[in-house]
Amino acid sequence: MNTLRNDSASDNDETRAQPGTVDTASDSDRAAVIRNALTDKLRASGMITSPVVERAFRTVPRHLFVAEGTPLEVAYNADDSVAIKRDTDGVIISSTSAPFIQARMIEQAGLGPGMSVLEIGSGGYNAALLAEVVGPHGRVISVDIDPEVTDRARDLLEATGYGGRVTVVQVDAEGRIPGLDQPVDAILVTVGAWDLAPAWLEQLSADGTIVVPLRMNGVTRSIGLRREGGHLVSTSAEVCGFVPMQGSGAHDERVFLLSDQQGRHVKLRFDGDAPQDLSPLDGVLATEGTDLVAERKSWFPFGVVRGDSFAYLSVRPALDGAGVEFGARAYGAHAHAPAAALVEQIQAWDRHARGGGEPTFAYWPTGAARPQFGEHTAVLAKTHGLVTISWPPTADAAAGQGVLETERPSWPVARGSWPAWRSAAASVLSRGENGRKRTQRGMTGRFTR
Ligand SMILES: C[S@@+](CC[C@H](N)C(=O)[O-])C[C@H]1O[C@@H](n2cnc3c(N)ncnc32)[C@H](O)[C@@H]1O
Repeated sequence: MNTLRNDSASDNDETRAQPGTVDTASDSDRAAVIRNALTDKLRASGMITSPVVERAFRTVPRHLFVAEGTPLEVAYNADDSVAIKRDTDGVIISSTSAPFIQARMIEQAGLGPGMSVLEIGSGGYNAALLAEVVGPHGRVISVDIDPEVTDRARDLLEATGYGGRVTVVQVDAEGRIPGLDQPVDAILVTVGAWDLAPAWLEQLSADGTIVVPLRMNGVTRSIGLRREGGHLVSTSAEVCGFVPMQGSGAHDERVFLLSDQQGRHVKLRFDGDAPQDLSPLDGVLATEGTDLVAERKSWFPFGVVRGDSFAYLSVRPALDGAGVEFGARAYGAHAHAPAAALVEQIQAWDRHARGGGEPTFAYWPTGAARPQFGEHTAVLAKTHGLVTISWPPTADAAAGQGVLETERPSWPVARGSWPAWRSAAASVLSRGENGRKRTQRGMTGRFTR
């Protein structure tokens, strides 16, 4: 059996993955065993909570939808997406999403028999799950901007018996979907979005749910939103990662590379609100190397830029072996300034948000009536509206003491000052064995104060 190529594969074989994977009786039996084990795991982890979603996961043969030759153990790994297509630089632009987030998003959508659902971003497998969930009286429309993806999805759905239960349409989903004449009960956006397209809200029924992986300051969360008057309010949220939106709704990040003396690079990515001029940072790593490349991976490589200096959030195991510590690692002639700004954020999180309730996310389309947002609400400007993040007011926790411990790192988000804070994701570019560029992200833990 072939194995999947890794990220540094030098050609695009995955883009030529064809439907029609051979499924012998013994493969099929083994797949059923592994599929049930995956479903048990998703239930145990709370990603599956309803019997209808559980039944769908036990039923749909995921291994027949992923790239041909994918080992069953990879196809049915809860946390693994499987690449379907890469661009000319080898970057994945289409994949079969990881089971954990597929399960979670379908649960977030609150779907049940007889309901209608629009899936934005096709592949076939998730649409088949949706078809199982909404049943024979429901409706599933799955759309993708890429004709190769829609052709492949259509063929796979046909081959696995779901052809008559899913309508696949090739279109840029930023606009209205041709043929979708009635608003749907749910929209599942299965591609990373920076904003909500107005057309999505127009096509969603008044009491419908939209589930969207929304990027906010570099972190993507799958957020379930329902209408409350003229705006939408979150009912659930889950941190995740998705390939980015293409087409007219694509949102480019601004990226700056800082070189160190060993020829390695720290990449600063700005989601929005990038400084006009980053030239003061030129040479900031020239005398000091960075060992970011050797440091632990993190979902949250946030940073701060101040003039000619920058700092990034660092996480390291606590010295006494209990939990982890958060801190700032800073570079530049005035490194104390970004370090202090970052530490202030960590301490604000410790005082106000840590251990408190989960924040509520809301989306305010342009033109919707808005209240005066209070001090417990952060406001992020998007193209077609605003996102707000509100924390429940809690009694302040004990003041930050420099070393923060937690069993699993969770992102310290400070209220109030966050939107004004210029954040950047820091990562290191290194060379893969065959010379192709690979991106690694890492964090370290050296406190600067
Ligand atoms: C993660 S994949 C979808 C996975 C799929 N739902 C599954 O079965 O797991 C994301 C897809 O979104 C598609 N996409 C990107 N931008 C799009 C757009 N503007 N409109 C429609 N589809 C888009 C990509 O072509 C890609 O195939």
